[in-house]
Amino acid sequence: MSRAVRYQRFGGPEVLELQEIPEPHAAPDEVRVRVTAAGLNPMDWQIASKPDMAAQFGLSLPAGFGSDFAGVVDEVGAEATGFTAGDRVFGAAIGRSVADFVLVKTSAAGLWPTPDGIGDEVAATLPVSGLTASAALAAIELRAGDTVLIGGAAGGVGIFAVQLAKLAGARVIGTASEGTFGFLRGLGAEPVAYGPGLADRVRALAPEGITAATDLFGREAAETALKLGVAPKRISVVADGPAPPPGVSKAGALDAGPGSLERIVDAIHAGEITVPIAATFPVERIREAVTTQAERHVHGKIVISL
Ligand SMILES: NC(=O)c1ccc[n+]([C@@H]2O[C@H](COP(=O)([O-])OP(=O)(O)OC[C@H]3O[C@@H](n4cnc5c(N)ncnc54)[C@H](OP(=O)(O)O)[C@@H]3O)[C@@H](O)[C@H]2O)c1
Repeated sequence: MSRAVRYQRFGGPEVLELQEIPEPHAAPDEVRVRVTAAGLNPMDWQIASKPDMAAQFGLSLPAGFGSDFAGVVDEVGAEATGFTAGDRVFGAAIGRSVADFVLVKTSAAGLWPTPDGIGDEVAATLPVSGLTASAALAAIELRAGDTVLIGGAAGGVGIFAVQLAKLAGARVIGTASEGTFGFLRGLGAEPVAYGPGLADRVRALAPEGITAATDLFGREAAETALKLGVAPKRISVVADGPAPPPGVSKAGALDAGPGSLERIVDAIHAGEITVPIAATFPVERIREAVTTQAERHVHGKIVISL
């Protein structure tokens, strides 16, 4: 037997159950990964609470939980290619990652080797957030010399977006609540409080103006950037919600260009990007972990250990 977090009805953290299930085995075109860490994202609890969102990802009840994972390949199907038993890997498997074992088709995208020097906890945070941050910045063609406003800069996507933007040579102004300012400064961003009056506060920080923006939380930073005269094509939004203002692009993990994740991995390996882990919860405490994540004041990433 093995363990997996599953749910039989849609709802909040209370629907999640750690169940004993028969141990799965790799089909000929699959590898089996013994998962040691699973990174959480808002999409995980959103899928578990919204049937229409679950359907978009091809999930129906009863369903598994979580997307990002890291661990070790421990079974290799006869036709599977590119990986051998004992390889450390990380990847994304929507609706399946918070489990002792994940099966992955090696012909499909979604599995990467974990380099030596990067631990499983960190690797398990990378796919959804890292790809989304890359896509959000690519959508606005961020470049050296830009002054970029990042909305929701301290969240799971924000930590990557801030550091990628700094690496690209931009000046970064990031929104957060005041208690989060020190955390954001540590990542290289200049913090500014979200909420009414944001445009005035950004103007005070950057009297010469901002040139680009990405909103990782809602619409406030995008609308502020428009108000401050930024061209719509240099503004992106990532959060689910109402359609963005005309000309503003919407970017998600699936929009990331080839090599995006590899660049983040290289930057972590080189010590140019750090991944703050806000908390690690043993899988038995999955409901508490998801409750924390859903409060939307996480700084960095939440990881489940298995
Ligand atoms: N489509 C995709 O492929 C995709 C992929 C990944 C994520 N997403 C979406 O992207 C968004 C960001 O996800 P995330 O992982 O970074 O987690 P998150 O839960 O959205 O971010 C948490 C952060 O949001 C900040 N925050 C809270 N209230 C805020 C407000 N009113 N204005 C601005 N910031 C606020 C918090 O800072 P304080 O603690 O200082 O308040 C906290 O650091 C989510 O909506 C998620 O669904 C989409």
